Amino acid sequence: MILDFGSQYTQLIARKVREHNVYCEIYPYNHYPQPDETVKGVILSGSPFSVRDENAPIPDLSSIKGKFPLLGICYGAQYLSHYYGGEVMQSDSREYGRARLSYINQEHPLFKNLEINTQVWMSHGDTINALPENCDIIASTEDVEVGAYALADEPTFGLQFHPEVYHTTDGKTILFNFLSEICGCSMDWTPETFVDSTVRELKEKLGNDRVVMGLSGGVDSTVASILLHRAIGSNLTCIFVDNGLLRKNEFSTVLESYKELGLNVIGVDASDKFITDLKGVTDPEEKRKSIGKNFIEVFEAEAGKLEGVKWLGQGTIYPDVIESVSVNGPSVTIKSHHNVGGLPEKMHLKVVEPLRLLFKDEVRRVGKALDIDSSFLKRHPFPGPGLGIRILGEISREKIRLLQEADDIYIQALHRHGLYDTIWQAGAILLPVQSVGVMGDERTYEYVVALRAVTSTDGMTADWGHLPHEVLSKVSNDIINKVRGINRVVYDISSKPPATIEWE
Ligand code: XMP
Repeated sequence: MILDFGSQYTQLIARKVREHNVYCEIYPYNHYPQPDETVKGVILSGSPFSVRDENAPIPDLSSIKGKFPLLGICYGAQYLSHYYGGEVMQSDSREYGRARLSYINQEHPLFKNLEINTQVWMSHGDTINALPENCDIIASTEDVEVGAYALADEPTFGLQFHPEVYHTTDGKTILFNFLSEICGCSMDWTPETFVDSTVRELKEKLGNDRVVMGLSGGVDSTVASILLHRAIGSNLTCIFVDNGLLRKNEFSTVLESYKELGLNVIGVDASDKFITDLKGVTDPEEKRKSIGKNFIEVFEAEAGKLEGVKWLGQGTIYPDVIESVSVNGPSVTIKSHHNVGGLPEKMHLKVVEPLRLLFKDEVRRVGKALDIDSSFLKRHPFPGPGLGIRILGEISREKIRLLQEADDIYIQALHRHGLYDTIWQAGAILLPVQSVGVMGDERTYEYVVALRAVTSTDGMTADWGHLPHEVLSKVSNDIINKVRGINRVVYDISSKPPATIEWE
């Protein structure tokens, strides 16, 4: 169990624990279930707060401390020290970034197989000046004496540095030691065991009930539907809606692939309805609302034709679940990504979400264990409103066609040059400006397309993809020569933040 104090690294701690094949869940520090015998250990995350702040997060650890192995990281370590008799002060030498452990108690099980001078990553403005009475220092850096400590008579530990980040060279070993040596975890939570246990649980939960599920062509809904299909077979009906805003040929090829996967899938061409309703709409959030509303209507009408459906399957994944219980309260809406909220209530259906405990990379691994083709698993994320938010301003059929052609040339080129898998997400954006050009002896006055490619691990932050100039040059030539109506191509070199991945 991981208790979150609002650190930017909390999800990373969970991912690193799971990489050791140990299952874990994240809870807010002030709202977690009473730990029972299924809990093997607890980790306290870092925090943007200082323990000396008036509104610092203060957990009630009475059911945990001394009863379960407990590892405090950064704020977690400072909290444990501060509240149990030690002293935490603002440090004279704030330590950010790389440091080395000049002293390590190598006899300690937490530090098994660690070498002196191993690099660690520090990120704190406070220092533990004095420890509670029954504590021993088990690691130090040149500048920070209390780099890590252990309680003498209970399995409670504190690390001033972050074992979960890449720059802590032996962080993986330290977490392994905590999980295996101290918590005694069995470390057998693998994609294969996840598939087995999930299919078993779904069978029990759903029995003979019928489930309906919307597919998007993306990784999450595909993997979720295959898990459901394994559990209940033909009692699962999938619906794949063509909103007219998909990539070129995407509807027919993806529909075919779904059928090859053995899914019972209904393809619904509702493009007219979506595109007609978007006429005159230019505001990005209005577009999202229109597309989301139409999706609900189309889906509801189609699902309504099925007899005796009790459940709605959804491809929700873990970051969506924990985001909604964030310590700092909900973040400001930058873009409303969840386009189809409210569907289950409206249709009086119960919700089944087979992936709600997995991170994106884990969903891909589970997909692999389910033998799903890599063309599905490696597909870039694509927004629900599709090309609707990549055509800036008003949408028309002609603009959709232009963008589909340009986007297809770009994406095919990324595949051909072996670049597709090196980036998180790529696409073309049709700008609402025309520019002057010259083709042959003719003056042209046509649209501009922007190409976007980003690298990222989770879509929350992203860097622009450094694609080779030759590839960009070829794509630009091909688009301008082959797509009548576009006479200029530009490349987006903005990172997120401050930009976002999509332009709208
Ligand atoms: P931004 O543009 O916020 O995008 O940096 C982050 C990720 O979210 C996707 N995205 C959406 N997905 N509905 C979706 O289903 C939306 O309205 C939406 N807007 C952005 C975007 O493609 C990227 O992967």
